[in-house]
Amino acid sequence: FKGETEVTESNGDRDKMSRAIGKLLPRVLMVPPKYFKVEYNINPWMGGVVDQPKAQRQWDDLRKAIEKAGVPVQTLEPVDGLPDMVFVCNSGIVHNNKVFQSKFRHKERQGEEQHYIKWFKENGFDIQGADSKLCFEGGGDACFSTPDTLWAGFGPRTDKAVYEQIAKLGKFDTVLCELALPNFYHLDTCFCPVDETTALWYPPAFSEKTRKEMSVRLPHLIAISDAEANAFVCNAITIRNTVISPIGIAKETVNKLSDRGFNVVECDMSEFMKAGGACQCLVLKL
Ligand code: ARG
Repeated sequence: FKGETEVTESNGDRDKMSRAIGKLLPRVLMVPPKYFKVEYNINPWMGGVVDQPKAQRQWDDLRKAIEKAGVPVQTLEPVDGLPDMVFVCNSGIVHNNKVFQSKFRHKERQGEEQHYIKWFKENGFDIQGADSKLCFEGGGDACFSTPDTLWAGFGPRTDKAVYEQIAKLGKFDTVLCELALPNFYHLDTCFCPVDETTALWYPPAFSEKTRKEMSVRLPHLIAISDAEANAFVCNAITIRNTVISPIGIAKETVNKLSDRGFNVVECDMSEFMKAGGACQCLVLKL
């Protein structure tokens, strides 16, 4: 990752560990909430009236928190009539210079696809998945914890079989994660890796097989409570030593993260929660 100083021995294990995520995050893409509203219902959270100026302030604060943590933010122009385009995380999964494009489950969001493809093309990405017939919702369901491990959510929005195609993006392990609860319809609503061995997770959201597999692979899993899960605490972004999460994270969870070398920054995401999204949904990792 260009622009970062070399790690020295004296920085210790903790620094090396937390740098893994930073290495994956040279920059991110966000879409301003100019046309964001709740116009239809495609997940159990959707409802209520969005206060647009408030949504803009919350989005600005999130952007500032990301930049402050050390990652530059690029933006893509929103399109009127595509209210969920603000959740750009769902546009695809990026691996080095390649991107596997999304194919949305619901027709309400399919209009976003062409705008994302255009942006990926203009920005020099090698686009894969154009011929795929399978549903795939990008960074909402798929995320790299390290360059060699892809966590691969499937069920409500993404078809399991698509990961056979996504595996061709590079050399990494794919860990299939079966989602089991309607409220936690994307992997990033119930799982958030923070370093190679640590993740926030909401265990009831997964099948038993997935729970076992996660426990084996991640010795420092931090389980969150029902209240935290409903506050979308897992919908967080890790940048180096900072975890940016929606408000509602318990003191106990903050302490556990702190023991692992992370500090927490909370962002109010109330307006985006009306559409079933928060911090992580608003950001595409490039
Ligand atoms: N209303 C959007 C949908 O249902 C929310 C997307 C949230 N994105 C995410 N990465 N979890 O598709």
